[in-house]
Amino acid sequence: MSNRCDTLNERHGELSEIYDDLIASDIEEEGAVSLLQQSAPVGRTFDLGSGIRLRGPMKTVMYVEPTASAPALCLRPWRAEDTAALVTAHRDPLMRRWLITSLVSEADARRWIDDQRSGWDDGVRFSFAIVERDRPVGHIAVKGGVDPAGASAEVGYWTSAETRGRGIASRALERVSRWALGSQHVMPLARLDLFHAVDNHASCRVAEKCRYVLSSVLPAQPPVFPSEGHLHVRMKSMHVGGDMIPGQDF
Ligand SMILES: CC(C)(COP(=O)(O)OP(=O)(O)OC[C@H]1O[C@@H](n2cnc3c(N)ncnc32)[C@H](O)[C@@H]1OP(=O)(O)O)[C@@H](O)C(=O)NCCC(=O)NCCS
Repeated sequence: MSNRCDTLNERHGELSEIYDDLIASDIEEEGAVSLLQQSAPVGRTFDLGSGIRLRGPMKTVMYVEPTASAPALCLRPWRAEDTAALVTAHRDPLMRRWLITSLVSEADARRWIDDQRSGWDDGVRFSFAIVERDRPVGHIAVKGGVDPAGASAEVGYWTSAETRGRGIASRALERVSRWALGSQHVMPLARLDLFHAVDNHASCRVAEKCRYVLSSVLPAQPPVFPSEGHLHVRMKSMHVGGDMIPGQDF
């Protein structure tokens, strides 16, 4: 299989002057530019800024640069062929401990992927498979629809047990946070919220590494949240044109 991320990154390069990090639609073999120019017969109209409007379902694919010790990551929508990887990842006890949703069977995974697609189509939930060397190794999502004013959304993530501790969650979170608070125009956001149980120390560390500032400690709400929680936040005011202002607090 050809390296889809490299191809997408080249296309991203072609588009970046106009569209920043947006690559529209669920890119298969067609060129991203033609997809952007295509007018779908049904669906929402997305205002991409700079007077550019796209009609039809929109999806975004993002690229995370490799590091000295880790390969590049591709963040792309979940696909039907990912069901087995999802079920395998969800067998991990830590996933069962910390996530509300548990995918036990392939049928569960298929339904869940359909829900992710609907989230994109409705423009309320942007979820990505984190792909390393063509293999899904994690998940990251920006979930809107929780704040009546529409100014904030929640981020959530997991990585598969065998890939943890290599910076995958934090690199993906940094990339998605910049996109969500910076260059995307589908769901204008002023703030991203990140919740985790106080005893989920790995998640707390990911939040800190991505400069999500601890905002409050939330009381336990059994049975769903048996322990206290942390709310971390990252504000748009930390960004200028999608770039983080180094060292700026809020
Ligand atoms: C939380 C989770 C996504 C982190 O993924 P990851 O790819 O390992 O994350 P990263 O490698 O980017 O960073 C993990 C950090 O946590 C640290 N860490 C891991 N376990 C830890 C622990 N028990 N106590 C303190 N820090 C811990 C790591 O050392 C690393 O920090 P460092 O880079 O400063 O050394 C992963 O553990 C996971 O999927 N857990 C189960 C699902 C979950 O909890 N999701 C979040 C729900 S809020």
